[in-house]
Amino acid sequence: MLFVLIAPVSSTVSAFSLHPSALCNTQARIERGLARLIVLAPLTRNRSYGHVPQPHAAVYYSQRTTKGGLLIAEATGISDTAQGIVLAPLTRNRSYNNVPQPHAAVYYSQRATKGGLLIAEATGVSDTAQGYPHTPGIWTKEHVEAWKPIVDAVHQKGGVFFLQMWHVGRVSTYDFQPNGQAPVSSTDKGVTPSLEGVEWSPPRRLRKDEVPGIVNDFRLAARNAIEAGFDGVEIHGANGYLIEQFLKDQVNDRTDEYGGSLENRCRFALEIVEALANEIGSHRVGIRLSPYSDFMEAIDSDPDALGLYMANALNKFNIQYLHMIEPRVVGARVLQGPEDEIPHRLLPMRKAFKNTFIAAGGYNRSKGNRAIADDYADLIAFGRLFLANPDLPRRYELDAPLNKYNRSTFYISDPVVGYTDYPFLEEA
Ligand SMILES: Cc1cc2nc3c(=O)[nH]c(=O)nc-3n(C[C@H](O)[C@H](O)[C@H](O)COP(=O)(O)O)c2cc1C
Repeated sequence: MLFVLIAPVSSTVSAFSLHPSALCNTQARIERGLARLIVLAPLTRNRSYGHVPQPHAAVYYSQRTTKGGLLIAEATGISDTAQGIVLAPLTRNRSYNNVPQPHAAVYYSQRATKGGLLIAEATGVSDTAQGYPHTPGIWTKEHVEAWKPIVDAVHQKGGVFFLQMWHVGRVSTYDFQPNGQAPVSSTDKGVTPSLEGVEWSPPRRLRKDEVPGIVNDFRLAARNAIEAGFDGVEIHGANGYLIEQFLKDQVNDRTDEYGGSLENRCRFALEIVEALANEIGSHRVGIRLSPYSDFMEAIDSDPDALGLYMANALNKFNIQYLHMIEPRVVGARVLQGPEDEIPHRLLPMRKAFKNTFIAAGGYNRSKGNRAIADDYADLIAFGRLFLANPDLPRRYELDAPLNKYNRSTFYISDPVVGYTDYPFLEEA
């Protein structure tokens, strides 16, 4: 069950909702005979004149009420419900030797709220997928067992938990690869050595006949994630990693059916989406994209076209959500702009994609509320602010002051410092 909130009909009704076509997912589940899972998705109906709910809403909602059935009312914005607030995936480098640790259960459950969506940090799908120290994996039985108590801790607090799955491709070094081999990519062009302070090793271009093997790694990893108890998986198609190395024309220099045209460059990503939808169900699959980013030298000459092509192509698979990063973000850095600037650059993709749309990057409370009120996104993902404020939804609800994040502890391996020791409101 995803993004559930039992909100009173009397709450102020305005523009926040899952996209109306989220009903398609419900329909699909009904068709699969899972009628007991029928939930009325929060649907914006624009009938609360002057933002005041009207008597006709009582008729509307009561018409749809059944004994034990769940209705999700339209919500008003991120400060009203935890459900509008998503924990963005955040690499924290505290999974020693790629094995998730008990301290992650503390960290994630601190941030869990009833019905709120958490996206776990980027997690490797295979032994060739890694490129940073102490990032978690999901390709062995040991990884699956280690994730289980972490997922349980989030579920005990009523949270919805998706696992972000990645393959870093060329953003790696020989040290992270089995037998010290070259990292794999769409290309044999490497990331410029010493970019971000690392001597990236030159990659080896994947042969066409090797690509299905990587798709299969994602498929098996998704199956493992579900076995570990996750509610779904997010495919990491952003920030310069393997999938983006295929998507973007300034990296992908292939001449086979995985390179060249937009359709060809998107083929690898869409093959993964299809494999996962078939393996674990489309409602358990989301994808993250960052067409505008140039992080790790992954650049596209026409990001508007790339983003729109993907948004349209993804509709075919009816996946749960599309999670897009704003152009103002480069990896973990946000470019400075006017305080409340919302360029709405993602709007064409939001309009094209028929299920839930998550926007991320540089959001704060007011920007998030504005984006939801403008129907620019269904949900807003917060990275650094949620990292530093375990009770971010509550603070937004109360419009309380926020803890400041400490960048110097983002990626250290300490199990507590900068990880589980950010204070809650009462302690702040
Ligand atoms: C410490 C840190 C780790 C991150 N790790 C990931 C990651 O694993 N996967 C990902 O897609 N993005 C990652 N990001 C990017 C964030 O998810 C997010 O897009 C970025 O921080 C901008 O959002 P914000 O302004 O809300 O922080 C990371 C960012 C930070 C600060």
